[in-house]
Amino acid sequence: MPPMTAPLRHFLQLADLSGDELQHVFERTRLIKDRFKRYEFYQPLRDRTLAMVFEKASTRTRVSFEAGMYQLGGSVIHITTGDSQLGRSEPIEDSARVISRMVDIVMIRTFEQAKIERFARYSRVPVINGLTNEFHPCQILADVFTFIEQRGTIRGRTVAWIGDANNMAYTWVQAAALLGFTLQVSTPPAYPLDPRLAPAGAHLKVCDSPLAAAHGADLVTTDVWTSMGFEAQNEARRRAFADWRVDARVMAAARHDALFMHCLPAHRGEEVTAEVLDGPQSVVWDEAENRLHVQKALMEYLLLGRDVA
Ligand code: CP
Ligand code: NVA
Repeated sequence: MPPMTAPLRHFLQLADLSGDELQHVFERTRLIKDRFKRYEFYQPLRDRTLAMVFEKASTRTRVSFEAGMYQLGGSVIHITTGDSQLGRSEPIEDSARVISRMVDIVMIRTFEQAKIERFARYSRVPVINGLTNEFHPCQILADVFTFIEQRGTIRGRTVAWIGDANNMAYTWVQAAALLGFTLQVSTPPAYPLDPRLAPAGAHLKVCDSPLAAAHGADLVTTDVWTSMGFEAQNEARRRAFADWRVDARVMAAARHDALFMHCLPAHRGEEVTAEVLDGPQSVVWDEAENRLHVQKALMEYLLLGRDVA
């Protein structure tokens, strides 16, 4: 009998899954992580192959997807722009048609969201967003799972986003609407949220300072001042973001038991002080580890649906 296969679904942004599906992925993550910690074999993706396409650098995404797929019994192919025809302008549509005839699932890290959407349109197999300029949904899966692990449900809680209006910020905006929490955001005035990616809504509060955004928060989170692909703006951004740093004062404005998260890599002394990043409220290492576990649950869901042991 052929192996069970779920209907074709992509994960190009967090909102590609419903709140109920996200809850399912978090429940499976718990189970898959527990089994892994007990050294129990769980290999539902034997004979399945993941192709990972990287057009930007990565440590966590590369290692977590690669280790995760092997742990689930499958195998992995790693492709970069420099070592494939992708860098020699073979059309995305042709690459998608070819790659997706040879593997069972694809993870892509690239620049514009439009590129991954074009790839997905021509793909026969699920496509996962491993970071685009607009979104980083796998990271937010890990962040929300880490919050749930530490504090129980995230519904009704308050998350503070301090810093750039970037791929992480826009994915937090989607998470707040899907999972029912409030996101308080503070960015420098010259770098506001794009309303097309962050539509106004009850779950989103735009604040005029980092302290206002942190006020009453259960979780304070930030990211680099300059994301990959925007390096030419580095100097201007260093000046504009100088007051958008998570330090002890910002953490003191949050709830006394607030957590601190950062998707990493971090720049101590820029967007976060070493005191906060390495301090007792920081859960960044659990957050990084949880990329492994949530992405195993995600691949399981996209390939097998809910028909799992
Ligand atoms: N957080 C994250 O995606 O890290 P990498 O860039 O190392 O993959
Ligand atoms: N916002 C950052 C996240 C890196 C994981 C970037 O896009 O470079």
